[in-house]
Amino acid sequence: METELANVKNILALYHQEHLLNFYNELTDDEKNILLNQIKHINFDLIFDLYNKSKIPSEVDYSNISPLPHIEKNNLSEKEIDFYCNIGKEALENNELAIVTMAGGQGTRLGYKGPKGTYELKFAFFKKSLFEIICDDLKKTNEKYNITLPWYIMTSVENDLATREYFKSHKYFGYDKNSITFFKQEQLPLINIEGDLILQEPYLVKNASCGNGNVFKSLKYNNLLDDMKTKNIKWVSFGGIDNILLKNADPLFLGMMIHGKYEVASKSIFKEQPMEKTAVYCKKNNRNSILDYDDITLELSESKDENGSYLYREANMLSHIMSFDAVCKCCTIDLPFHRAFKKNAFVNEEGMKQVPDGPNTFKFENFIFDAFSYFDNMLLLRVNSNEEFAPIKSFTGIYNPDTAMDKYEKLFGILRHDL
Ligand code: UTP
Repeated sequence: METELANVKNILALYHQEHLLNFYNELTDDEKNILLNQIKHINFDLIFDLYNKSKIPSEVDYSNISPLPHIEKNNLSEKEIDFYCNIGKEALENNELAIVTMAGGQGTRLGYKGPKGTYELKFAFFKKSLFEIICDDLKKTNEKYNITLPWYIMTSVENDLATREYFKSHKYFGYDKNSITFFKQEQLPLINIEGDLILQEPYLVKNASCGNGNVFKSLKYNNLLDDMKTKNIKWVSFGGIDNILLKNADPLFLGMMIHGKYEVASKSIFKEQPMEKTAVYCKKNNRNSILDYDDITLELSESKDENGSYLYREANMLSHIMSFDAVCKCCTIDLPFHRAFKKNAFVNEEGMKQVPDGPNTFKFENFIFDAFSYFDNMLLLRVNSNEEFAPIKSFTGIYNPDTAMDKYEKLFGILRHDL
């Protein structure tokens, strides 16, 4: 262990991270091994490169921004809806669709102890967790089409065990357990505002999952593309964990995509408030892209086409379908990293666990939508927010459990606990 320690000390000295061994002498042998092994495997070059680059503000070249055309569900006739739904239905009945739920996020804004998917909503006569709500939606589709959708759930190192145990203890909510596959995504160390890595425990460096865009590589590393191939999957639906109105297997969306021969498709909702903190779809240098809310000017948000329709108001709601081939292609792409500022507990200089009042750490994340720029054509379908978008992000902001449950109650007539 002595040579090992000397090697690790050298690595840390190179990157000025010696503080990671502050409590080394107080650790048990097992803990010492864990820490040394962890540090040996950290890609310090990558993390500091990301950190240093992220400090340089990115300039948006507005002359290269143009709108990404969309289709509005409200403008489709009944005949068109029937037509597309029949195509989607056929693909569902032929077992061509797989579902991927991306549940590897930390959920720092909600601050709920445990995987975010296990957070329970209180209805008048029962409680349902976010996971169970998705499961119910999938079971309904299964019953309707007499199929069992293969369901892949992406977890993180942080929440994987708790997620698996939660499903097991709830008997997989009646879903065929052989059709559910949990897979862990990759992670990267967090950096504090002084530009240093932090400890989660005296013997553990704090890592966190590296964004929902890591889903492609994680599917690949976990051999799940082979699994999908064996199952003859042709389409993959990707969604988050926290939108309780998400339609995971929407025959209309799937049918439109198949009919239009699209490789990637996203749903959007109309952004009501011009300066609301929501990213919108656009084209950058003629490639499918997203305009981050920090880069959206009032002028851009208010701009309209000759028919009076807004050009940059299609907000991303994390609901996508991709062809299986497109998913395979994305596994070979190194998506860019974005910097997020999040609240994370850490071990302070006295060796005590400290929970900060607000965000204190930088997290580097890949975003799934960055993959879309690698495809020429893309379907963007605007759906009705009251029917398909009720995310739960925090207890205080606009996306809180109350607002989400109001929408749920209005749509399904299921009474909330407090009414
Ligand atoms: P959010 O961007 O809302 O992040 O994730 P979050 O981690 O859940 O919550 P905050 O920002 O810390 O409060 C949108 C979706 O992407 C998933 C989340 O689980 C959620 O379903 N996600 C996010 C991942 O699967 N992995 C990640 O690394 C990040």
